[in-house]
Amino acid sequence: MPRKIHIDLGSRSYNIFIKNNILAEASSYLTNLGLGKKCAVITNEVVKQWYLKPLINNLTENGFEVSSIILPDGEKTKSITYLETLYHEMLKSHFDRNSFVVALGGGVVGDLAGFAASSYMRGIPFVQIPTTLLSQVDSSVGGKTGINLKEGKNLVGAFYQPKIVLIDPLVLKTLEIRQLKAGFAEVIKYAVIHGKTFFDYLVNNLYDILALEEKSLSHIIAVSCEIKAYVVEQDERESGLRAILNFGHTVGHAIEALTDYDSFVHGEAISVGMAAACRLAEQKTGFSKKDTARVKNLIIKSGLPVDIPEQLSADKIIEYMKHDKKVKDGKIRFILPDKIGNARIVNNVTEDDMKRAISLCRS
Ligand code: GLY
Repeated sequence: MPRKIHIDLGSRSYNIFIKNNILAEASSYLTNLGLGKKCAVITNEVVKQWYLKPLINNLTENGFEVSSIILPDGEKTKSITYLETLYHEMLKSHFDRNSFVVALGGGVVGDLAGFAASSYMRGIPFVQIPTTLLSQVDSSVGGKTGINLKEGKNLVGAFYQPKIVLIDPLVLKTLEIRQLKAGFAEVIKYAVIHGKTFFDYLVNNLYDILALEEKSLSHIIAVSCEIKAYVVEQDERESGLRAILNFGHTVGHAIEALTDYDSFVHGEAISVGMAAACRLAEQKTGFSKKDTARVKNLIIKSGLPVDIPEQLSADKIIEYMKHDKKVKDGKIRFILPDKIGNARIVNNVTEDDMKRAISLCRS
């Protein structure tokens, strides 16, 4: 039986199903959603080699009329150029408002395909089949879609919910280990911001999780999706609570950008950002040093970094953060835990607080 998580968003509600091999059974989950017959599977060259064929076979055998659009792998695809490519391909396949899009891939494919679906003919349905840990626990759920501009990431987009999310944990077996660990950083994020027992579960089952043992893997994906669903249900468009999902991202984004998106993948930068946020939390929310040590230990044992590179001065990091999207009324907003399992938005962080925290994050 699949594990089912419902996201209650009124007329935009949908289910997430988690099950080994669900990819090859996708059609049985799509038939009751009122979708049309014509669909396009959007994927990239890497995912295509492994998973496109079983998905297309299953869909065509069950009456769907399927075309596929294969994009290059990598973040550069999340651009206005490839967005336009998708529109042209959909027109070429005579897509109308009853047609739908299936995003088969990681966050880049999901964000781009979702945004194309949100805007093609003013919106057609889309389905998420995420194939990286990061997209399974985070980006495929909650309806954030969009593209990057040369001025920055995710500057254009829409909140647009999928009709369903199908998660096949088995696909993680072909994921690069570095990407797996980076996705796990987002799982650690959930454990620090919400829940009483998830953090201990991660500590106690770390070896099995990273070895992709099936029961623990499905469990951490499901709990992460449950936490994300809980947050998104209360604040779909990030006017308040949803910001807690950005724990670790304020410093993390600065580190990614200041190293030209070259040295750190997203989850690695977020790991450093979480360690820095814990140091800030010691000053601002009474988060204990013992809990900082527990969070850092889990990050390190997962093979993820915690130190800010020496070449990034505190001034540079602070300057970048002031121009990031997380600035509200001139103040940098941080998501800080007060204990493991609970976090909140903190607006009164000063530059001196940040300098002290950053100095504690050098190796
Ligand atoms: N990844 C953060 C969010 O979906 O809000």
